[in-house]
Amino acid sequence: MNPQITSTLGCIFVLLAAIQVWLMLEVTGRQKPKFNSAVLTLIHRINGYLFAAIYLIMLYIMVRKVIQSNAPLDAKAIIHWVLAISLLPILLVKIFVVRFYPKAFNHVLPMGVSILVISLALVSITGGYYFLKSATGKYISHINPAAGHLDVDVGRELVIQKCVKCHDLTRVFTMVKTPAAWLETANRMQRRDPTWLSQDQVEQIVYFLSERQNITKPEQVTPVQAETLLLTKCSKCHNLDRAFNRRRTEHEWKILVKRMSVRHRSWINDDEAQFIGDYLAKVYGVKEEARPAVAAAVRLVTPAPPKPIDFAELFQKNGCVFCHGEDGAGQASGTPDWTDPNWQQSRTDEQLTATITNGKDNRMPKFGGTLTEEEIRAAVKFVRSFAPSE
Ligand code: HEC
Ligand code: HEC
Ligand code: HEC
Repeated sequence: MNPQITSTLGCIFVLLAAIQVWLMLEVTGRQKPKFNSAVLTLIHRINGYLFAAIYLIMLYIMVRKVIQSNAPLDAKAIIHWVLAISLLPILLVKIFVVRFYPKAFNHVLPMGVSILVISLALVSITGGYYFLKSATGKYISHINPAAGHLDVDVGRELVIQKCVKCHDLTRVFTMVKTPAAWLETANRMQRRDPTWLSQDQVEQIVYFLSERQNITKPEQVTPVQAETLLLTKCSKCHNLDRAFNRRRTEHEWKILVKRMSVRHRSWINDDEAQFIGDYLAKVYGVKEEARPAVAAAVRLVTPAPPKPIDFAELFQKNGCVFCHGEDGAGQASGTPDWTDPNWQQSRTDEQLTATITNGKDNRMPKFGGTLTEEEIRAAVKFVRSFAPSE
């Protein structure tokens, strides 16, 4: 429960108690009634119910707070508890007297006054104290270790006593922060309940937490610290499987962590995002070319280098072999002997290309159209391969 709400409720509570006493004085104490006493009695009754209702609500809040808190009850809490409980019998007796024992009516006023006194004491040590503290509290902008009053052991002790009030210490000890970020966090925590933490205590706590980690630059974060930070901070909204089952480059990791951290700034501050980002980039970052996904994408967009055509196969398939023979020396009548060096010299590549493409003398069929240009180029090479090598 927000202490501001409960403190305000406490002040209303005291005000109602005071009004009750005044109403009783008006009804029972005046020589000549100044107001219509029937109306005053009605107001007194409504006021009484309101008072009892607030009392029960506050009692409920108090009990719940004590149950939920991990911190031991301090002296203030015990006094608060005793005062709150002591109101109960007085309140009950007063209601009984008013309802069923009219002859004891003259005791009602002292009871009302006791209720007012106890309520005032009760609220002043809680709500009143709270308002006083929040009004005079200031934001600590830096701590000065040189002043000599700061002590790591004092700070540790305070963290263990004070920081367990609203959450467990995992929250405190798993976080990795620079001194500035610790200062910010501790100030924020102090604001949540200024009566719980004094400003001196905040200083001691910040000193201890900063010294313990001693981190001023991202490089000083150890892998274990970074990993712990990753595990606690990044598992808030989803499990971590998704973080690791894709390979990212160092740059992509940093961008990702940035993207995640802006979703919940009070949960992952900029320092922490940097520590986590650096860690992921270093440990899980891959080089651009080493990443299979990227390599595959590169393969998709760049055409495969052309496979050299082996014309020997096409030589068979297109029936060249029937006229020119396996050995290229010529089989059908009029076919040249490709193994003859003189013949090889007598023809240029362009001439061979033209013959294969257009045919020749009605004896050599035309293959342009059947064979692609590339295949024809390969054919020329193939024909040349029959030339005897010196
Ligand atoms: C009055 C209750 C209360 C007390 C006392 C308290 N905290 Fe918190 N703390 C919270 C709440 C609520 C949150 C979650 C919301 C938030 O981060 O502000 C939180 C969150 C945190 C976080 C996580 C968020 C972050 O900034 O990293 C840290 C660390 C933390 N507290 C440290 C401390 C320390 C250290 C102390 C002791 C000086 C402390 N808390 C005392 C209520 C409290
Ligand atoms: C405030 C909640 C929240 C926190 C904290 C958070 N995430 Fe996320 N994360 C999400 C949501 C929501 C998505 C899905 C939408 C998206 O991809 O942006 C997501 C998606 C992801 C993805 C998959 C995105 C992709 O493009 O494949 C990864 C990886 C991831 N988070 C890692 C992290 C890491 C690392 C951290 C700690 C630095 C982190 N998350 C902290 C909410 C969060
Ligand atoms: C029907 C038989 C026949 C077939 C099939 C045939 N050729 Fe010929 N080829 C000839 C004859 C005959 C000549 C000689 C033509 C001339 O010099 O007048 C010739 C000539 C050539 C020449 C020499 C061209 C020149 O400029 O002198 C080449 C090269 C050639 N053929 C390649 C091929 C190839 C490659 C194939 C298969 C794709 C093929 N031939 C299929 C009969 C054939």
